[in-house]
Amino acid sequence: MLIIIPLMPLQLTVMDMLFNCDSITRHVKSIPTVKHAKSCTGDCGRDAGRGTAAVESLNSEGLKPLFQQLDINDPESVRAARDFFKEKYGGLDVLINNAGIAFKNADTTPFGTQAEVTLKTNFFATRDMCNEFLPIIKPGGRVVNVSSVMSSIALNRCSPELQARFRSNDITEEELVGLMERFVQEAQAGAHSQGGWPDTAYGVSKTGLTVLSRIHARKLRQERPADQILLNACCPGWVRTDMAGPNATKSPDEGAITPVYLALLPAGAGEPHGQFVSDKKVQPW
Ligand SMILES: NC(=O)c1ccc[n+]([C@@H]2O[C@H](COP(=O)([O-])OP(=O)(O)OC[C@H]3O[C@@H](n4cnc5c(N)ncnc54)[C@H](OP(=O)(O)O)[C@@H]3O)[C@@H](O)[C@H]2O)c1
Repeated sequence: MLIIIPLMPLQLTVMDMLFNCDSITRHVKSIPTVKHAKSCTGDCGRDAGRGTAAVESLNSEGLKPLFQQLDINDPESVRAARDFFKEKYGGLDVLINNAGIAFKNADTTPFGTQAEVTLKTNFFATRDMCNEFLPIIKPGGRVVNVSSVMSSIALNRCSPELQARFRSNDITEEELVGLMERFVQEAQAGAHSQGGWPDTAYGVSKTGLTVLSRIHARKLRQERPADQILLNACCPGWVRTDMAGPNATKSPDEGAITPVYLALLPAGAGEPHGQFVSDKKVQPW
């Protein structure tokens, strides 16, 4: 899922929202300052049938969503969505990059293939989304990258050299991309352990996403300091979705709390920015 919310930055009482996540939308709606949402103007997803079903479900709650097709693995689809928001809304106020995939533990797909497929969506395609959409985030905007606590667990299982780079404040996007490509190549060659990587493709993909968030936050402070955009990575917790299954501890509504908190940080707030957040608290990285 990917949620894009164009809204009036200083006036959350009247807003247009773009989303494809019922729980996040319900949660936004329940916040007193935004409960008079004017309209929900989009629902981003890959599949028109699922999109239409989500729209109908939200219509029954008094929202007025529209469907906008978006496959983050398809650069043309990403650019078309960007152009749509630029032309229709003049940009975006809130972007929540929530789309993600994970192989099940029991899946027997070779690790190298899992690494390639998982990083393609969770890291490389999400990076493409950021690079296309960040330039059209409006002043006062908020960007939330839905990462995972696994990003931090995988980080701690990396070699000391890799950990030092992933924690550094001078790692560049190019260096990070090179490291993520190296992980995929070494996983495919059966050599990732010798390369200092842990045995979790999902974890490494999310380590990459959290580090990318730190890099993009730094760039925003350097290049657009007056715009006061806040960008963070977060973990929603262990949530009962298709990905995590029915035994997870949080409901989808509970999982939406931290992403929505970061998406609606009040105007003028300077923090958190470039942080990894869970349960609405900044976590050590
Ligand atoms: N559930 C958890 O316990 C948990 C814990 C930590 C982090 N997370 C993170 O939370 C986020 C949401 O996960 P979830 O639990 O809701 O997983 P999910 O039930 O599997 O949903 C994943 C969503 O991502 C969308 N998606 C995947 N690839 C996409 C693509 N190429 N283009 C557009 N959309 C795409 C899917 O869209 P379709 O409907 O089109 O398939 C689906 O809506 C993920 O980033 C996940 O890594 C989840």
